[in-house]
Amino acid sequence: MLTDAQLLAAAARFGTPLYVYDAAELDAALARVRTAFTDTRLFYAMKANPNLTLLARMRAAGVGFECVSAGELARAVKVGAGGSDILVNGPAKSDEEYAEGARLGATFIVDRAEEVGLLPPRSRVLVRVNPALEVSTHDHLATGAGGSKFGVPLGGVPAVLNALRAAGHDGRGLHVHIGSAIRDATDFAAAFARLSELRPAVGELEVLDVGGGWSLDADLDGIADQARRAAQVFGAQLWAEPGRYLVAGAGVLLSQVVGLKATAHEFVLLDAGMTELIRPMLYGAVHPVLPLWPRSEAALHNTGTYDLAGPACESGDVLAREVPLPRPQRGDVLALLEAGAYGAAMSSNYLTRPRPAEVLWDGEWRVIRQRESVETIWAAET
Ligand code: LLP
Repeated sequence: MLTDAQLLAAAARFGTPLYVYDAAELDAALARVRTAFTDTRLFYAMKANPNLTLLARMRAAGVGFECVSAGELARAVKVGAGGSDILVNGPAKSDEEYAEGARLGATFIVDRAEEVGLLPPRSRVLVRVNPALEVSTHDHLATGAGGSKFGVPLGGVPAVLNALRAAGHDGRGLHVHIGSAIRDATDFAAAFARLSELRPAVGELEVLDVGGGWSLDADLDGIADQARRAAQVFGAQLWAEPGRYLVAGAGVLLSQVVGLKATAHEFVLLDAGMTELIRPMLYGAVHPVLPLWPRSEAALHNTGTYDLAGPACESGDVLAREVPLPRPQRGDVLALLEAGAYGAAMSSNYLTRPRPAEVLWDGEWRVIRQRESVETIWAAET
């Protein structure tokens, strides 16, 4: 991980709010995945962080891409991925996405029976299975529940696979993704067990794609073992689509203290908030906070418990609650950790706030996304 001094140097040089990524951490995360998931084809779920530099690094490491929009497909193409490296996923694919996926020769993940008639001729497909499971994550992050909009109910899968093949498509296998930020390996075990129930009805398959969803502290070896066993049930090759795990730990959001305010709460007011990192507000996500202010020993003992609030005119614009910290001053910098996934990717221009710059440390600093300006925000407006 980058040192405090490196983070402070980045804040001083590039300004705040700032997304900072550590190339060594990116490489380490991929190495951990490869060690656990042997004999597995990896497709990075680029929604987690679609920065072209990060994509190019993944591509150079032989990782493919899971895409859920025409824009994400364009990014995959931009970094040189070919059809066999690309999955086209999504519950509501557009005509443009079907056409582009077909042009590229990508693999489509079929999400509902109606898609059989919508796919381009002779498409290569997997069927997404909805295992109807409650999983241990925030409701907004659970995709495998019976009532969710995702996938084909278990009982309907054999018929959809047959219909696809009868229509001339290459029905290669099954896909399952039960949600995101899942810590409990037994959730995955339950999903794979449900899937395995399909073996008598669907026979052998070429591919079993187990999606992503692993929290940073998930038991990768345990999940991989279970995934491998499920793939063996079908005699299938194992595919996986990690997003968060590959990038979250490598990224931090640096923010500067604008001031302090005491109400019923003690607030530290920051120059970053929901527009830069919406996860705390949207999912109650907890990002560890690293204070980067140098202090005398005595001052370090002057600690308080603070809510870290952003500059937006919304009460929910709080990045972290009840954080014990040495008392900060205006101008101090702090880091919100584990922000490499779904941080910059979900940032917005709400309140005409330019998105932050993104920089990568790989032995030297590289600006991998320029800070936006007001002009870039309104460029498309008349
Ligand atoms: N595969 C499929 C089909 C997915 O829908 C997703 C994530 C992934 C793979 C990657 O999941 P991961 O390994 O990153 O958990 N914005 C939320 C996360 C939404 C995830 C959506 N789908 C957040 O900030 O936590």
